[in-house]
Amino acid sequence: MDKKEFNSFFKPYAKNVDNASKLAFWKLSDALIFKIIKQNIPTNINASATIMDVGGGTGRWVVKLSAEYKCKFIIYDLSEDMIKRAKQNIKEVKLDDRVLMIYGDIRNMKKVSNASVDHIISIYNPISFIYENEQAIKELYRILNPGGKIIIMGHGYYNAIASKINNYVVSADELIRLAETYRVKWNPYVPDLVTYSKESMETLLQQVGFTIVNTYGIPIFVQPGPEDFDPENKKKSRISKVLEDQTFFDAVFELEMKHNSNSLLSNRGMNILTCAVKM
Ligand SMILES: C[S@@+](CC[C@H](N)C(=O)[O-])C[C@H]1O[C@@H](n2cnc3c(N)ncnc32)[C@H](O)[C@@H]1O
Repeated sequence: MDKKEFNSFFKPYAKNVDNASKLAFWKLSDALIFKIIKQNIPTNINASATIMDVGGGTGRWVVKLSAEYKCKFIIYDLSEDMIKRAKQNIKEVKLDDRVLMIYGDIRNMKKVSNASVDHIISIYNPISFIYENEQAIKELYRILNPGGKIIIMGHGYYNAIASKINNYVVSADELIRLAETYRVKWNPYVPDLVTYSKESMETLLQQVGFTIVNTYGIPIFVQPGPEDFDPENKKKSRISKVLEDQTFFDAVFELEMKHNSNSLLSNRGMNILTCAVKM
């Protein structure tokens, strides 16, 4: 993806992404991710430890995590619009003394020293925007401290196929292209995204030296409605409406958490999230 395409995609995204969790589908998805982060990176890590949010965007995960983690954070991102928004968000919640922001590309993290970060999170699929994914994962391995965990998320391959058949009813050509290349195009304004199965994500991480801890599908049972992708987050899908009922939300959350790392089910995930460790 060239720089112009990249910037024109993330400029409007930076304005709206912080509102997305108002929709119950995204609220549920965020709650699942947050729970999994806490299961894999203990909240009582040292205050001097650092969690880097790679492709951290507007800093919304750092803001969320800072309420439960007393450590330091780095937001690393390649979009000037995202970083600009992150600076405002971090200032608003008075986190400046705990958060460093780095503008840069995951494929070449020259501003970050070897083994200088204690844990890495990378949420909502920065790795799906990168075609040179092995190079990117190598960089993440290099900067992580031995013993450190990485929690990384990419678009789900099998869910993309299911969605293209059932929701978009695309041509046979498009389906075959997706199946063969693992790349999906959701609409003309979104660049081709790299999708992952549990196996391809785990292989990518293992190839550079990581040891797999667990892989989850996010979510595996709940399917978003088309309105959940409204770029302005103004429309509301049927599922987002029903998930506003807290009892239903809690029941779905429990079911998702009970089964989302079952190796027979995680490939149902709209997104694939893997936790791995650098030994
Ligand atoms: C879909 S957004 C997710 C943002 C954030 N993690 C969240 O959950 O709200 C993907 C992010 O990945 C960043 N990104 C994509 N390719 C990147 C690259 N090569 N280097 C650094 N950041 C990148 C984008 O700028 C964007 O902020």
